[in-house]
Amino acid sequence: MKLIVAPDYAGICEKAANIFADEIRRNPACVLGLATGSTPVGLYQQLIRRYQDGTLDLSHVQTFNLDEYCGLAGDHPQSYRWFMQKNLFDHVNIPPQQTHIPSGIADDPEEECRRYDALIESCGGIDIQLLGIGHNGHIGFNEPDDHFPVGSHLTRLTDSTIQANSRFFASEDEVPTHAITMGAGSILKAKKILLMASGQGKAEILCRSMTGPVTPAVPASVLQLHRDAVILADEAAASLLCRIIPPSEE
Ligand code: GLP
Repeated sequence: MKLIVAPDYAGICEKAANIFADEIRRNPACVLGLATGSTPVGLYQQLIRRYQDGTLDLSHVQTFNLDEYCGLAGDHPQSYRWFMQKNLFDHVNIPPQQTHIPSGIADDPEEECRRYDALIESCGGIDIQLLGIGHNGHIGFNEPDDHFPVGSHLTRLTDSTIQANSRFFASEDEVPTHAITMGAGSILKAKKILLMASGQGKAEILCRSMTGPVTPAVPASVLQLHRDAVILADEAAASLLCRIIPPSEE
């Protein structure tokens, strides 16, 4: 595991955009694993800027998002499909049929999970998986549990995640209680993993995830097992971790 530290949020977005752009230029038909939450927004803005100034072509990439709320259709403003359209897809040249997100309104969520995993496999697997981290250590919507789920699955959100994500909804009651998410196993299969973390509020969980025991009680701890996981954190988020893992010069 490699730790890269930038002074601030803008710095981690710039570095993440460089890693993504390098991968896309090296392999224009690469498969990107994408994430939602506020942390990746600045990275997406950088990718949009690079596309608009003609230095990045995304027309051959395939994208797979980590997760989607159950019960929200793609045209619901709080769905992750909507989030991705507004924050990235509407502004770049990825053909819509190459952007994949689990359906939150599938009649049979278990079948939807199997379809999603098969689709990822059929595209050759994920080349770079982007992640944020929840305050309880969740990645995607892999919540603290007594085991690491392997593939995509239906999950019940914890009260703390519902409360944290209620900031995007009119009230906590409107936050869906379930989601479909890629599993920890699906995430570990990615060839490279890039986890972005920003702000003092993530410092404790980031340190615990990357230096504590590997346990499903702290889902992000599973990243310690990956051979090419990069943690990209600003100084505030890295403040505890960098006392234990020396930041890399890149
Ligand atoms: C949601 C998403 C996660 C994300 C997390 C943290 O729960 N499912 O993928 O990492 O929020 O979000 P933020 O970046 O806003 O702190």
